[in-house]
Amino acid sequence: MKILVLNGPNLNMLGVREPELYGRRTYQDLEDYVNQCAAELGLEVELFQSNWEGALVEKIQSAYGTADGLVINAAAYTHTSVALLDALKAVGLPAVEVHLTDPERREPFRRLSYVGMACEKRFAGCGFEGYRLALEHLARRGGAAQT
Ligand code: DQA
Repeated sequence: MKILVLNGPNLNMLGVREPELYGRRTYQDLEDYVNQCAAELGLEVELFQSNWEGALVEKIQSAYGTADGLVINAAAYTHTSVALLDALKAVGLPAVEVHLTDPERREPFRRLSYVGMACEKRFAGCGFEGYRLALEHLARRGGAAQT
């Protein structure tokens, strides 16, 4: 199974950005962690991070016919982007939403998740571990299209 792991804006600043919320580990540490989890689960992963909404839309589109599932931490675009929601719906692949923190426990504007409307599972507030849980879920369920 091939899984596309997408990370949105400012996640490249992990380790520097608000360490009291996001911790001291870097984006490179996150990539290493995800690659390690994928290897343990026998999954092939492609990691992609962008600060640009359109680049994320295009990457989701590129998953059509080439990937079996998606893990997405759309970061701030989670709460604003109908374009990302539509892209996820367009490709129709099983998708899992991940957040390092738990947006439900933060400012009210983080409670709305457009991206989550096209995701079958959500792991929030578990730090890096959320990505492992998401990969485990996709490995368990297999790659068939959403029903
Ligand atoms: C985040 C939560 C979002 O609300 C925020 O905008 C982020 C990161 C998280 O991983 O906790 O940038 O997605």
